[in-house]
Amino acid sequence: MVTGSSTHKCSQSEPMGDRPQTIGIEELMRDLAEPGRRPSQVCMLGGGAPARISEVEAVWRRRMREILDDADAFERVVACYEPPRGPAEFLDAVAASVRQCFGWPVQRDHVVVTNGSQSAWFLIVQLLRESCGAKRTLRILLPRVPEYIGYADLAGSPTPFVGALADPVPTGSRRFRHQLAWDRLRVIEAFDAIAVSSPGNPTGGLLEAEELSRLTQWAIERKVPLILDHAYGPPFPSIVFRSTPPVPWSPHTVLCLSLSKLGLPGLRTGIVVTTPERAERLARWNAVAALAPGGLGPAIVTPLLRSGELERLCHDVLRPWYRERRDRALAFLDEYLPADAEWYVHEPDGAFFLWLWFPTLTVSSYELYQRLKAKGVVIVSGHYFFYGRGSPRAARHRFIRLSYAQPDDVLRRGIQVLGHELQSLLRKAPRFRSKSPVADCTKSQTHRGR
Ligand SMILES: Cc1ncc(COP(=O)(O)O)c(C=O)c1O
Repeated sequence: MVTGSSTHKCSQSEPMGDRPQTIGIEELMRDLAEPGRRPSQVCMLGGGAPARISEVEAVWRRRMREILDDADAFERVVACYEPPRGPAEFLDAVAASVRQCFGWPVQRDHVVVTNGSQSAWFLIVQLLRESCGAKRTLRILLPRVPEYIGYADLAGSPTPFVGALADPVPTGSRRFRHQLAWDRLRVIEAFDAIAVSSPGNPTGGLLEAEELSRLTQWAIERKVPLILDHAYGPPFPSIVFRSTPPVPWSPHTVLCLSLSKLGLPGLRTGIVVTTPERAERLARWNAVAALAPGGLGPAIVTPLLRSGELERLCHDVLRPWYRERRDRALAFLDEYLPADAEWYVHEPDGAFFLWLWFPTLTVSSYELYQRLKAKGVVIVSGHYFFYGRGSPRAARHRFIRLSYAQPDDVLRRGIQVLGHELQSLLRKAPRFRSKSPVADCTKSQTHRGR
């Protein structure tokens, strides 16, 4: 792999396993808030903000009117604390939705509501620390690195995360997929939980059925929680463009859901579905951290869940909307990125990101981010998604993440500027070299037990 001439702060001399000097999630959220002030000048292809879809927003507005028009509903939402695990009717509606979607035997007492899924993760880490006790250092296995930037700094330093690079495997012209590397995973000896997002953030890739069932089996054998992050997955918002594999239930399963990617990030509503015992402990931590979750998200969504309207909205509006946007983004890449250089896109199964791999990028991805930002285009540098002890350093500076939850003209302009910038930054090379770039990506990873 070409060594970059980067001068950025998160340089390749960064010690393995240390937290990045810049906190990725903070930089990302700052970038996300900034263009709101001058939207015409910035192409915001960074961040994880959901799209503004008028048909979806009309439903939220209608629900707000219904709440306001009710004799008491609005006052109940704003003037009362909810119970620490959230309002009972919402817990029932979520449990019913999960039963229907996955066939899991879950009821109200399996569910906890939090102030956003990010907060749920924070509480889950507290729970794991509690189980781990003072004698041992917590270790959370990320079996599919690159993984969501928002976990990286959840638990302070030293990081509890142990990252295993999922091999980038070419799947077709300009396409690849990060696949779980079982040989590498098998030798990781001790850990207290397994955590994975599916569809993945940043990759947009779904776990394959076989990967999911092996991870579940593994969690059962090791008696550790398997934390599945479905912020973009089923039962809602279900932004997935191929059939989703069955998700097996076990007493080790911890499913994290969110209302954010439906288009309600401002309401900060996250949901955890797990065993009643674990749910009870999470509710206790919820009370400690926040007293209670907010009630507006549950109030808006409960009747939509009960009537099936939410499912129809996801299936008939959200999913086709994002699928169309994804296809446009892929077409813009073909139009504007250098045809005579190597670049690959992760198979975009779901969520609303394209994860791009430039094996011959001659600067770091962070430098590319800075250059693009100076030209008014915001993306996310891929290095933030490679973290945790054991995560390989060689790979991390050759990837970027683009969000396609943007209007067409913004998407086109942003990708055009990216293509222009890459003309001088990608080595010209035959499409598929005899020596696979995959080897460069994986060679630095080693794992030792605890
Ligand atoms: C994979 C993943 N998990 C969790 C979250 C946090 O979502 P929330 O807005 O519910 O805190 C995000 C947000 O971008 C995400 O992408």
